Amino acid sequence: MKAITVEPRKPGTARYEDFPEPGVHEGSVLVEAVAVGVCGTDVEIVEGKYGWPPAGKERLVLGHESLGRVIDPGPSSSLKKGDLVVGIVRRPDPVPCPNCAVGEWDMCRNGQYTERGIKEIHGFMSERWRIEPEYAITVDPSLGILGVLLEPMTVITKALEQVLLVGQRSFCEPKTALVTGAGPIGLLAALRLSSRELQVHVLDRAETGPKPELVRALGATYHTGSVLGLGFDPDIVVECTGVGSLIADSIQKVGAGGIICLTGVGAGGVASRAVADVAAAAVLKNNVLIGSVNANKRHWYRAGENLARSDREWLSRLITRREKPENFKQALTRQPGDIKVVIQFSEV
Ligand code: BGC
Repeated sequence: MKAITVEPRKPGTARYEDFPEPGVHEGSVLVEAVAVGVCGTDVEIVEGKYGWPPAGKERLVLGHESLGRVIDPGPSSSLKKGDLVVGIVRRPDPVPCPNCAVGEWDMCRNGQYTERGIKEIHGFMSERWRIEPEYAITVDPSLGILGVLLEPMTVITKALEQVLLVGQRSFCEPKTALVTGAGPIGLLAALRLSSRELQVHVLDRAETGPKPELVRALGATYHTGSVLGLGFDPDIVVECTGVGSLIADSIQKVGAGGIICLTGVGAGGVASRAVADVAAAAVLKNNVLIGSVNANKRHWYRAGENLARSDREWLSRLITRREKPENFKQALTRQPGDIKVVIQFSEV
């Protein structure tokens, strides 16, 4: 079969190539790939900045935002041939740490977790893949290709759960939420926040393209420019860019008792303000800064329900480009107006 593979930590090694069929040890359920979403993590892996191959191997099959159709459900599965499924990304560490031991692999303590298409286990950018039945999530068949948005939806489902849990530390009646970054994660955050009684604001660099209208369609307000220039102090900030200056500005701007949830993974940048000054702003306002990554099974189920209930027409506008697997390099190269680019392996 064909697969998109890469030698992690070596830039320029990604290829669409012949690759062995997945072995039964990778899971008893055999799946035909329909589509795989591309995200910033995939770009980083291809650029040689992130990622780990399976033990004893050089190459890793890329891709963690999956959608596939069951070809063979295997012996001990409640799945049926033809079901649309998405694969959970992370697997618990083998020790296991206390969190992985209770199914909270998203909160792994020792870093020995594995992740499909990212860390030590093959991903989903291959014509066929296998999965353990307990890690295959069925998606509402009426979602069709939109099922590929489930993985990013799980990330935001966990992040917002964390915000709500932290909010319970004191009397909390949030009125305004700010999302920084109108990529897929930011827009899905805005979608979920706008289903609550909150005024939702989204800030992004793009002045044209589909983002402003997608935000307005949710009844939310779209902003460009700086966080500090906003005319209100948000109660909740969901930071989806990983850009240092936006994070520092968000800490300064968030209201008293406010919560900032960081979901973006950035690097470098130039410190524009002293860390102690940024921290002092947080201390004096009782702010909480939470980092949130990945998702466990509870979030996958909730995200699946939320996705199935969401406006299909709005969701479909998030998928701005579909590329063939042989054109994966184009898929990984950002173009103006891109939100979610998917690599399509077969028709839904
Ligand atoms: C994925 C997460 C993963 C994280 C860190 C993100 O792109 O969506 O599932 O945990 O990268 O590897």
